[in-house]
Amino acid sequence: MSHAAQDPRIASLYAEHLQTCQARAERALSLSGHEALLIASGVEKYAFLDDRPYLFQPNPHFKAWLPLVAHPYSWLLVRPGTKPLLVYYQPDDYWHVPPAPPAGYWVDQVELRVISEPEQALQHLPADVSRLAIVGEADAALQHLIPNNPEALIHSLHWARACKTPYELQCLREASRIGARAHLAARDAFLAGGSEAEIHRAYLIAAGHTDRDLPYSNIVGLNEHAAVLHYQYQDTARPAQHLTLLVDAGAQVAGYASDITRTWTRGDAASAEFDALLAAMESAQLALVDEVRQGVDYREIHLSTHRHIARILREQQLVAMSEEAMLAERVTSTFFPHGIGHFLGLQVHDVGGFMASEAGGTRGKPDGHPYLRLTRDLAAGMCVTIEPGLYFIPTLLNKLRATPAAKAVDWAKVERLARFGGIRIEDDVVCRAEGAPENLTRDAFASLA
Ligand code: GLY
Ligand code: MN
Ligand code: MN
Repeated sequence: MSHAAQDPRIASLYAEHLQTCQARAERALSLSGHEALLIASGVEKYAFLDDRPYLFQPNPHFKAWLPLVAHPYSWLLVRPGTKPLLVYYQPDDYWHVPPAPPAGYWVDQVELRVISEPEQALQHLPADVSRLAIVGEADAALQHLIPNNPEALIHSLHWARACKTPYELQCLREASRIGARAHLAARDAFLAGGSEAEIHRAYLIAAGHTDRDLPYSNIVGLNEHAAVLHYQYQDTARPAQHLTLLVDAGAQVAGYASDITRTWTRGDAASAEFDALLAAMESAQLALVDEVRQGVDYREIHLSTHRHIARILREQQLVAMSEEAMLAERVTSTFFPHGIGHFLGLQVHDVGGFMASEAGGTRGKPDGHPYLRLTRDLAAGMCVTIEPGLYFIPTLLNKLRATPAAKAVDWAKVERLARFGGIRIEDDVVCRAEGAPENLTRDAFASLA
């Protein structure tokens, strides 16, 4: 396990973070009409007809309070005006390494009960659940402690979670630094002629992570694989040529994720045409990051991205149409077929992106943009990704070929560039109360330069 925070500022900010969690929980309880909140960390899940557990994924509501990501069968009880009570499961298990005895910057901030059998939790938790909000997955139920996940409470907590506390921002900064360091190692492995699997391993070594520690499965695509948005394999064979590398990969600190994408070439004569496109996307990405401002409707940044893509397609002489016509005929969606980004935090695609208000409801996506994951107005402390892309995806290009816009496309150029797969540049960005945003990713790369 290597999610433990190293930066001492993280520890010093924790007590204040817990106070914010407490205040948010008390508000949510008052809105839902419950007296206390009980959170189940979750249970181990097993492969069908097998005794091998899947990698444990904690209830995000649990790790919002505690930097504990590998702790099934634990519970947190939150009552207004009282220190949170943590029931900490530490089995006497010689088959596995049990969770370490409770230690770290969080220990003093909670009341602790250590148990060695899941059922022992019952001795420490309320017998009367009539006024209890129990948040967890259905399979976490323990006798009468059955998750009820009250909607009003969950909505309120999800709404608030979009704005990160100073502690959370510090975790995200450290996750960004680890990710940036690993991305540079991946680039070096690419330049040294590595396979996707070798590049992936170089990433892990530099991050000090194993696959178990990653916040999501690394996307490591060489050449045409850069065009597969969620490319899920890592070829062990080295390709004949190393034209492009697209790596979409993050790191995890105390349960918080970074989510970073970089696209690299060798920068030689063979990639000159693609490098011009890459440079255009780089400056568009920076302009889009700069749109992350308090009060801005995130949907507008997504629509702005399509305008940038239209301009780039025209300027790079890929599509000889007016930008307005490209947008009207949805040509840009062939080349940029995903959303500009999402909330980031405890989950890579953090919750609450479509909420209309603290009470719930849905704020819609713009027509024709089904893959956007965030539609809210930005506020100080929100952490979002800004990840424009421009790809040569065979199935989408074939569809474009069948439309009237096809005649405006320079297909010979498309074919030349398709060998490179595509481009995505993804930064993690924090909205500030005033002025330009904080770019966690660019700051992390700059600190390594
Ligand atoms: N890593 C998945 C994404 O960028 O949303
Ligand atoms: Mn992302
Ligand atoms: Mn990503």
